[in-house]
Amino acid sequence: MQEIQVNTEAKRYSLKIGSGLFSDDNAYSMLKNRKAVIVTDSNVAPLYGEGLLARLENLGIDAGIYVIPAGESSKCHNELIKIYNYLAAENITRNDFIVALGGGVTGDLAGFAASTYLRGINLLQIPTSLLAMVDSSIGGKVAVNLPAGKNLVGSFYQPEEVIIDPVLLGTLPDRHFADGMAEVVKYGCIRDSELFLMLENLENREEVMKNIEDIIFRCCTVKKDIVEQDEKEKSLRMILNFGHTFGHAIEKCFSYETYTHGEAVSMGTVFISELSYKLGCCKKDAADRIRALLGKFSLPVDFPKLNAGEVFDAVIKDKKARTDIVNLVLIEDIGKVRTEPFSRERIGGLIHEMLGN
Ligand code: GLY
Repeated sequence: MQEIQVNTEAKRYSLKIGSGLFSDDNAYSMLKNRKAVIVTDSNVAPLYGEGLLARLENLGIDAGIYVIPAGESSKCHNELIKIYNYLAAENITRNDFIVALGGGVTGDLAGFAASTYLRGINLLQIPTSLLAMVDSSIGGKVAVNLPAGKNLVGSFYQPEEVIIDPVLLGTLPDRHFADGMAEVVKYGCIRDSELFLMLENLENREEVMKNIEDIIFRCCTVKKDIVEQDEKEKSLRMILNFGHTFGHAIEKCFSYETYTHGEAVSMGTVFISELSYKLGCCKKDAADRIRALLGKFSLPVDFPKLNAGEVFDAVIKDKKARTDIVNLVLIEDIGKVRTEPFSRERIGGLIHEMLGN
């Protein structure tokens, strides 16, 4: 098992990474003499939720399970209120725990419930998707969506601990594994050129899985380092959005239906890398390597056929760009990025040039 200590202003906590951790009774010692409500979704419940409930009960922990329908549409106020009502019916107190067992939707929704119920109860994150293991379950961002946009209501709320067991990835469909690989590649691009090189030498999912603990450890180390310096995303943390400005725009233009988050981020990453080259910020080779690496992991790399005006609207309506200035994370070399402010007019012009319409 490898352990990473995260020291934020709000909290110090551990990320524990190890194959078999999920099935190790010792991993749940913090729940002793507390109540625990497992929040999970309808896909994960039969795979891991029921087993975890039985394990906690065997350990003498007063545990319950709340199952949300699988899918992004559950990340809403309606489901949130149902969770609050369940917590109230179970007489959950501030000493008790929500155990968020699942991917990004579950972690964000259950995490936001934990951050607000009784003004904050304990949260244990157990991610089951690669994307959640390397990104959404760590760093404390929790939220629900509004009809006006994704993650518009949320908070920064650090968990008590994150238990990351790569064995759980065994049941993840290939498309969702690739989804997580887009974020893994991001860490190589922004901070860890050795990770990038390592990934260039791995041919497929099977080879990635042979190195998965090391890969997750490296990603979590980069994220921990950034979150410790800028928990509330005032400056440095923005680099975690590398590839995301145009990725979010693609997701929005396709009504969050056609592409997974990782697929959209992959296309957004190639787009911003090629824009960085166009702006003289990086060499062509860096942009080419990023395109090749994402493509190798079965991720789409060509920007979809979209009207430049539509993309521009989506970019300026992003919640992170609600001023006249849009901050773009540009790449200088593999492992090195910088954030640069652009006026709306400049962004509009660049999108037109890049998309050729
Ligand atoms: N996923 C980006 C962040 O946690 O800041």
